Amino acid sequence: MSSLSGKRVLLVIAGGIAAFKAAELIRLLRRAGCGVTCVLTENGGQFVTPLTLQALSETKVYSELFSLTDESEMGHIQLSRAADLLVVAPATANILAKMAHGIADDLASTVLLATDKPVLVAPAMNVRMWLHPATQANFSLLRGRGILAVGPNEGAMACNEFGPGRMAEPAEILAAIESVLSAPKPLAGKHVIVTSGPTHEPIDPVRYIANRSSGRQGHSIAAALAELGARVTLVSGPVSVPDPAGVAVRRIESAAEMLAACQAALPADAAVFAAAVADWRVANAAGGKIKKQPGTAAPALELVPNPDILATIAAPGPARPRLVVGFAAETDDLLANAQSKLKRKNADWIVANDVSAETGIMGGAENEISLISAAGVETWPRLDKQEVARRLAARISEALT
Ligand code: CTP
Repeated sequence: MSSLSGKRVLLVIAGGIAAFKAAELIRLLRRAGCGVTCVLTENGGQFVTPLTLQALSETKVYSELFSLTDESEMGHIQLSRAADLLVVAPATANILAKMAHGIADDLASTVLLATDKPVLVAPAMNVRMWLHPATQANFSLLRGRGILAVGPNEGAMACNEFGPGRMAEPAEILAAIESVLSAPKPLAGKHVIVTSGPTHEPIDPVRYIANRSSGRQGHSIAAALAELGARVTLVSGPVSVPDPAGVAVRRIESAAEMLAACQAALPADAAVFAAAVADWRVANAAGGKIKKQPGTAAPALELVPNPDILATIAAPGPARPRLVVGFAAETDDLLANAQSKLKRKNADWIVANDVSAETGIMGGAENEISLISAAGVETWPRLDKQEVARRLAARISEALT
């Protein structure tokens, strides 16, 4: 039996010459036992008729041309809810731009904005449109948010040019769909809380104390856990990295707010504390902006300790997650400090990393970590933060299942 048997794909067909290949993709999906519902954009309808798509998919085709009746029969939310995966093929420069910038001006783009399901795009366009910095920026924004992609391929194009921009062949798109839908979900039914990014501790309404954390490692961990099927609550301080796909994000600023958001998200099977929480907050933070007064001394900030979020959540009790993972960012005596942190904060594991300036880890793209538990110390090679996240998510999954 095919791994696609009983699954359902919502296929968005945008307006490009490659739209004719969508017909073959529908045929391949149906042959594999996969249900297909088509959403055809107005421009897509210039290249392929709803009647063809309906005959092949054996299901009503939705299009903005009939959006009023579509909405009364099956709203856009319901269209995405009924699908396991959304596929955009062909994904034109225009629909990628709309997806990247949250434009919802027709049924297809509204469904894509409203969905919480995985989305796979098969870009197809003229080579210069593909290579244009605007399209490249939109594409990398989407990839950063966890949108999956197949192609484009390089080759001769309908416009008599040669280069990247040809849509992947239907068989390649089918293989990509199979790999997404048959990926194991060992963490299905498990809830994991992840903290990420810095916290901002106010000095006055416009100034704050912060640190160099980018949120990259925490966000990648949240994404990797979601990919394994976990329900993830990501409690994030102010960051500029995009929200991972399929993750519930709670945005906070201060350590006190981060603790409250973590407590509100309980119960959880596991919690990963990757945030760089400010250890102190300003007790005498001003309600109004502090003004410079000529001839007077600089204001003295009175710092008081913040609550330790990790230690609070890891304290023994009925609400304690089964697995609590902390981080230790150190510049000296990495392993000794991390081991004492493991005990002091009652964590099950500590992910220890050396954040000395020369390592380039804080705010950088790579990480070199040691995983510390009661079983001992395991040192990993220097890896991309996403790869560290995938390995850690796999270990969490082994521990929970
Ligand atoms: N942490 C937390 N709440 C805090 C401080 C830290 O949840 N108020 C968590 C971090 O998310 C991380 C771990 O505790 O998982 C270690 O944080 P770190 O700042 O390295 O350690 P500290 O406890 O602050 O110790 P030190 O300042 O001595 O390094």
